[in-house]
Amino acid sequence: MNPDVIILAAGKGTRMYSQLPKVLHPIGGKPMLSHVIDTARSLGKNPINVVVGFGAEQVRGHYGDDPRLVWVEQAQQLGTGHAVKQALPYLDLDGHTLILYGDVPLVKQQTLQRLLLCLDDVELAVLTLRTDKPFGLGRIIRNEFKELVAIVEEKDATPEQRQINEINTGIIAVRNDRLHEWLEALDNNNAQGEYYLTDIIEMAASAGLKIRGLPTDDQNEVQGVNNKLQLSVLERHYQRNRAEALALEGVTVMDSSRLDIRGEISVGRDDYLDVNIVMEGKVLLGNNVRIGPNVYLKDCEIADDVTVLANTHMEGAIIGSGSTIGPFARVRPGTVMAENAKVGNFVETKKSFIGRGSKINHLSYIGDSEVEPSVNIGAGTITCNYDGVNKHKTVIGEGAFIGSNAALVAPVRIGKGVTVAAGSVVTADVPDGQLAVARGRQRNIANWKRPEKASSTS
Ligand code: UD1
Ligand code: CA
Repeated sequence: MNPDVIILAAGKGTRMYSQLPKVLHPIGGKPMLSHVIDTARSLGKNPINVVVGFGAEQVRGHYGDDPRLVWVEQAQQLGTGHAVKQALPYLDLDGHTLILYGDVPLVKQQTLQRLLLCLDDVELAVLTLRTDKPFGLGRIIRNEFKELVAIVEEKDATPEQRQINEINTGIIAVRNDRLHEWLEALDNNNAQGEYYLTDIIEMAASAGLKIRGLPTDDQNEVQGVNNKLQLSVLERHYQRNRAEALALEGVTVMDSSRLDIRGEISVGRDDYLDVNIVMEGKVLLGNNVRIGPNVYLKDCEIADDVTVLANTHMEGAIIGSGSTIGPFARVRPGTVMAENAKVGNFVETKKSFIGRGSKINHLSYIGDSEVEPSVNIGAGTITCNYDGVNKHKTVIGEGAFIGSNAALVAPVRIGKGVTVAAGSVVTADVPDGQLAVARGRQRNIANWKRPEKASSTS
């Protein structure tokens, strides 16, 4: 197939009321334009021409130096025909071109393939939609043989033509030689004074050429985004599709309307996703992973048989099999948990390794640490990793038992099998097997008289 591709993305997006160029607004965490580019990439290897105008620098900047993208500048937005014309110098004289829109993000690869296949029989094919809300869109005019003969913009349409409920989605596949020929002949004699791409339909028809109007029945795949309401409607549609696809892959999805995936996810067997889960970036789940309600996961790799309990926030973590996290845990970047480890409620971890079978069950902060296997860290333990200038490391040896409310002042090494008494402030290394007590000794004072209230004199 391998068509040339032109993506129109020069429009301002006034009704988004945003500083961000319209096509960079995300669906599922990815700019709308990237959805279109990725779909276009899946069709072949030819360059993808992106016509940019408003916010051109920002849009290009987002993509860096991608060798397959050709940036075409349209300084003034004089119409869709004018926009396509700017890309003409980059097109071959033979072959086919597919015209897409940066603000129509969810068009499906299969639909585009069907449209391109039409070019085996005709020289121009237009993707259309039957809709009960045709207002503002170009109407599809067919002759008595149901052949497509023209597209009339709403503003140029007669009252009768406005009754037509088949509209132009804007997506067109066309032979390159014809596109070159027709675009040269475009004018702007119409209600909006614009160069209409859609005028090429009539040119083709009056030259006696056959044109295919291919209807799609999926309104969402051809839905353009002009405002934030349309953006949010498409976001929900996209998320529901992703959730349903996961369910079909064998994931138990408790509510497909309460799962948000803004990136890539890979799943295993018998995974369970409760309600209100947000996943961003790259999330990899092994087999039999259970994620509880209200959980945020970003860039996490989670092995088999892991349970993440409610209200947990995790980012940049690697979790070994059989581990449990939460409820209400905050697992920050650089956390690596080995197998069967446990991070419990109100525990924060950062840039730390938690060894096999080690437990941090309640109310702790473990940062810049290496926790060896089978360690038990009591409630309220804090690694004091920061001296106000530099970060320092804490090592807790295998089998150590850290009493509640200990402060481990880094850099410090707690030996294997060490016991740290509750409430200790540990500032020096503890050799293997020893007990560290670092707190005021308790005194009990007998016959203690409580203070009495002073008698009021005035
Ligand atoms: C166009 C079609 C209309 C179709 C509708 C579908 C024409 C003349 N009309 O309407 O038949 O029903 O799309 O949404 O083609 N753009 C540029 N440069 C320009 C003008 C537009 O890059 O000079 C881009 C816009 O950023 C947008 C797309 O082209 O992504 C469509 O432009 P828009 O103004 O929304 O569409 P209409 O011309 O109203
Ligand atoms: Ca439009």
